[in-house]
Amino acid sequence: MGLNIVQKIIKTHLVEGEMVAGKPIAIKIDQTLTQDATGTMAYLHFESMGLPKVQTELSVSYVDHNTIQAGGPENANDHLFLQTVAAKYGVYFSKAGNGICHQIHLERFAIPGKTLLGSDSHTPTAGGIGSLAIGAGGMDIALAMAGEPFYLNMPKVVRVNLYGKLRPFVSAKDVILELLRRLSVKGGVGKVFEYGGEGVKYLTVPERATITNMGAELGATSSIFPSDEQTYIFMKAQGREAQWRRLEADPDAEYDEVIDIDLSELEPLIACPHMPDEVKKVKELEGMKVHQVAIGSCTNSSYRDLMMVAKMFEQAKKTVHPMVSAAISPGSKQVLRMIDKEGMYDVLLRAGFRFLECACGPCIGMGFSPPSGGVSVRTFNRNFLGRSGTKDAQVYLASPETAAAIAMTGEMKDPRDLGLEEIKIFLPEKFEIDDSMIFAPAADPDEVEVWKGPTINYIGYKEPLGDKLEGEVLLKVGDNITTDHIIPGGAKILPLRSNIPAISEYVYSVVDENFAKRAKEKGGGFIVGGENYGQGSSREHAAIGPMYLGIKAVIAKSYARIHRANLINFGILPLIFVNPEDYDKIDQGDILEIDTSNFAPGEDNIITVINRTKGISIPTKHGLNERQVKIIKAGGVLKYVKDKFEG
Ligand code: F3S
Repeated sequence: MGLNIVQKIIKTHLVEGEMVAGKPIAIKIDQTLTQDATGTMAYLHFESMGLPKVQTELSVSYVDHNTIQAGGPENANDHLFLQTVAAKYGVYFSKAGNGICHQIHLERFAIPGKTLLGSDSHTPTAGGIGSLAIGAGGMDIALAMAGEPFYLNMPKVVRVNLYGKLRPFVSAKDVILELLRRLSVKGGVGKVFEYGGEGVKYLTVPERATITNMGAELGATSSIFPSDEQTYIFMKAQGREAQWRRLEADPDAEYDEVIDIDLSELEPLIACPHMPDEVKKVKELEGMKVHQVAIGSCTNSSYRDLMMVAKMFEQAKKTVHPMVSAAISPGSKQVLRMIDKEGMYDVLLRAGFRFLECACGPCIGMGFSPPSGGVSVRTFNRNFLGRSGTKDAQVYLASPETAAAIAMTGEMKDPRDLGLEEIKIFLPEKFEIDDSMIFAPAADPDEVEVWKGPTINYIGYKEPLGDKLEGEVLLKVGDNITTDHIIPGGAKILPLRSNIPAISEYVYSVVDENFAKRAKEKGGGFIVGGENYGQGSSREHAAIGPMYLGIKAVIAKSYARIHRANLINFGILPLIFVNPEDYDKIDQGDILEIDTSNFAPGEDNIITVINRTKGISIPTKHGLNERQVKIIKAGGVLKYVKDKFEG
């Protein structure tokens, strides 16, 4: 039986497991990328493993999220740390202002057939060039940089057949909005979307990357296109034709699901507040007043996208509507220089667009927030409530063509109704290649001193597990505790992400404001939880903070999957009550003793918790596998890898 593209790449990277959908596998990672918001932790993790150099074929660190100084040194401190740590450990560094990680990675680094793991959820953008690109947490990236495989469940592969050709003023964004309309934001969980069919050959790599980028909004593990003539054209224009290789599904390849889309039937679509799958036809909203238009983000800021907007304004001989504030954040310095070379930067400036940095910018609420209660149309990928920085704004997501039509007219407008002639944007034969803001690793790492400002303070692992854990129950909580309960988000706390002692002060502060103080006074202890402990966001600080405060084990009725994995990674034993009613036999303040002398892998490994205060024994289990047991015994995954490396 033939293989599809996903299977071909996984097969050549498989380290453990079988290629059966839903079964656990481990794959070798060729490339990693990080952005600054998640990258600081990833490199701090990596640094603490004690390796002299990254083990990947290529690792790149981008600064694109927190680029603007907002009243303190935290961002600048992070940038300098990222630059020096990259130089020392063999990582390429892309400076703030060079552009958005996914755009630059596509232009300069992504390679068909390679695996890429990135600490950003839109890492699958590189699937536009035929790379199997997956988003993950900072720890996973650190482990990949250390040469460890990436563990995941073998995804289902969905074949998306594209037929026909897009009509004028309908574009790649409308293809992915159509998929979101059909499948919803949960439709891609556990799946990789593999595109194929006749229609593929009409889509350039940047257009394909718009589709794979926003596959993340389907909840998909990844999305991927074949590597064909279009891929060759793009890579040649980037001076990278030597890295091109053909990559296609075998004619008899099988898929778990098949979806058909006739491109010629699509029309301009728009995602309405506050979810990317609230998709309607632009026509249905025509006439609604719009206050703001933002063009950019890793979804739609390529040369093709900005040229399209400029050419529409040029042909229409129009300027931005007086009641609209319109801004562009180009995807990269390369894109900005290219549109300038074509004379289109000037066209857009004269039309009344404001130019922002080549960075994420308004996509993460870094400036250009909409007015209160205002309507903002953006070419971005997310429109969650409040993400724009304005709590009551109404944010819509659309294509560059639709955004341009709206910027001109000041109201929702189907771009086909402007009466313009068809505009075709061809990729240039050669892009303006300018890597002057990308720095190669240092030739002599010993010469580099990693710069750490006072806001960077890191502790990565704890002491190895002994035969016995003793201490007090510092907190007893109920069911459905979220990671937001454990470590709250917000503008005050997030800048402390690289300062573990400082951020740990906030552990459980929303539940019990004395928790951190008590934990420090008692020298650590235990937490008792109910069902679904640690649900919600995947933030690893919800495990790092408790680890720093000396939490040795959590005993709960059940765990949310990602938080349980994070607890294991940071050396905290996640125990489960064998009899859920035993939850009632432990109170806050009780002294516990946990016998870990027979701690071993398996569902049936029973760990006895002795409640010394009440004079009773309580059986618990954990269900950890062999690797996880080793990680807990070592004191966390960083120590485990470090020990392995030191042999
Ligand atoms: Fe940046 Fe927004 Fe993409 S934050 S990486 S432009 S989703």
